[in-house]
Amino acid sequence: MPDKFYVTTPIYYVNDKPHIGHAYTSVVADFLARYHKARGEETFFLTGTDEHGQKNVEAAKEAGKTFKELSDENSAKFKELKEVLNLSWNDFIRTSDKEKHWPGAIELWKRIEANGDIYEDEYEGLYCVGCEAFLTEKELVDGLCPIHKTKPELLKEKNLFFRLSKYSDEIGQKIESGELEVLPETRRNEILSLIKSGLKDVSFSRPKEKLAWGIPVPGHEDQTMYVWCDALSNYITAVGFGRDEKEFKKWWPADAHIIGKDILRFHAAIWPGMLLSAGLPLPKGIYVHGFITIEGEKMSKSLGNVVKPENLVEKYGRDAVRYYLLGEIPSHEDGDFSSERFEERYRSDLANGLGNFASRVSTLAEDAGELKNSEVSGEITSEIEIARKNIEEAVSQFKLHEAVSTVWGLIHFGDGYIDEKKPWESKDLGVIFNLVVLLDNIASLVSPITPEAAEKITNSIEWKSKDSLKVKKVEALFPRLNEENSGRQARLK
Ligand code: MSP
Repeated sequence: MPDKFYVTTPIYYVNDKPHIGHAYTSVVADFLARYHKARGEETFFLTGTDEHGQKNVEAAKEAGKTFKELSDENSAKFKELKEVLNLSWNDFIRTSDKEKHWPGAIELWKRIEANGDIYEDEYEGLYCVGCEAFLTEKELVDGLCPIHKTKPELLKEKNLFFRLSKYSDEIGQKIESGELEVLPETRRNEILSLIKSGLKDVSFSRPKEKLAWGIPVPGHEDQTMYVWCDALSNYITAVGFGRDEKEFKKWWPADAHIIGKDILRFHAAIWPGMLLSAGLPLPKGIYVHGFITIEGEKMSKSLGNVVKPENLVEKYGRDAVRYYLLGEIPSHEDGDFSSERFEERYRSDLANGLGNFASRVSTLAEDAGELKNSEVSGEITSEIEIARKNIEEAVSQFKLHEAVSTVWGLIHFGDGYIDEKKPWESKDLGVIFNLVVLLDNIASLVSPITPEAAEKITNSIEWKSKDSLKVKKVEALFPRLNEENSGRQARLK
């Protein structure tokens, strides 16, 4: 029985349509899903939308739509990212799904309450709708939320509270021991220092008269479940919690929650606390990426610089967008999106890199006709082995950009090998066979990054028997960009 691998993205708020930041999180998770699947692991990749809470309610009001209309509309946009970005997810959960999500969310609440970890309190605090969370005075910068730069609302109401403080030490120990792996180290330190300062109890409900759009709290029908409590439970409800025990046992605990740095506290403190209280296993890993800026600026509607993944894909193709996100943005830190840099990498790494190598090798091999399965040179085998090992190491440290540059290092090696052996002069079939083996391995290594290109390469190599193969020339994988007319448009011309 092969290992299983269960990976998730955060579920996206439906207050707006997807942008490049959301695309980034999804592509990172997709890389991991494809990578593990290719290793023979049974893989489950979950994504979805977070549809309750005040933020979505306010957005619906502003758009003059009902909550349901806005949710359906924007949730569908996130679902379309599957096609847009070639995502391989297995399931798309919506927190408005009363059959799939609600029973598990309610069951989880009941278990937490049965463990004595829910209590009622009158609460006064500063609520940031953008974060969907109460902030302390200390967290504010000039009276504003440091992330959303907005003034939080003062709320005074009767809430139900989750006794998170009770689990502070245990969560800290699990992270310290690595039982719950938080990567990168900087984020691990950040959450550990927050935990060491002592986790506070969390308001876990809102009065229904103030917020009706959400899951009613079992046994307290005048309260609506706090949107993060509702949302975090998606990771277990989607795989059967509260509905299908067998399915749940098969997939839970998750192997990797992929999140952005803004939602670390919810995933590495509140979520483990909820699971510990309910007596459920903790996820194995939380992998935290940075934020994407646009040409050096924070992306925001007011600056008018929001980049939509579908526009980029229309222009450059899906593989190119995936390549840029995975190769150019360092997984551990913030990264920048710049059109100039995008086109630079498109030209050097895709058109002149992978595309050119595939075309050179497949042209040589097609001209050579049927190729005998001969011995693969030690030089090639060891380059491939070293690359595979380095990629494995980079992925295990959640340094996906390093995995990408290792694959491209192998392509450069391949280019050097052709230049050195000059098979177009020598017509050495052994060399050409070696190059096909290298190309085939490169196709498998790029498949989590540029799956379309990988498939085209793999399909061009046909094993006649175990003794011989034939290759068809690979069509231009990445059409050349020119000044006025770039990418996809050039291809359509
Ligand atoms: N609904 C919550 C998550 C609940 S998960 C139980 C949420 N949604 S979100 O739509 O605001 O953000 C989802 C993801 O997109 C987060 O991981 C966030 O970090 C990521 N990004 C949003 N803007 C981003 C950038 N500019 N750059 C990179 N990722 C960013 O939070």
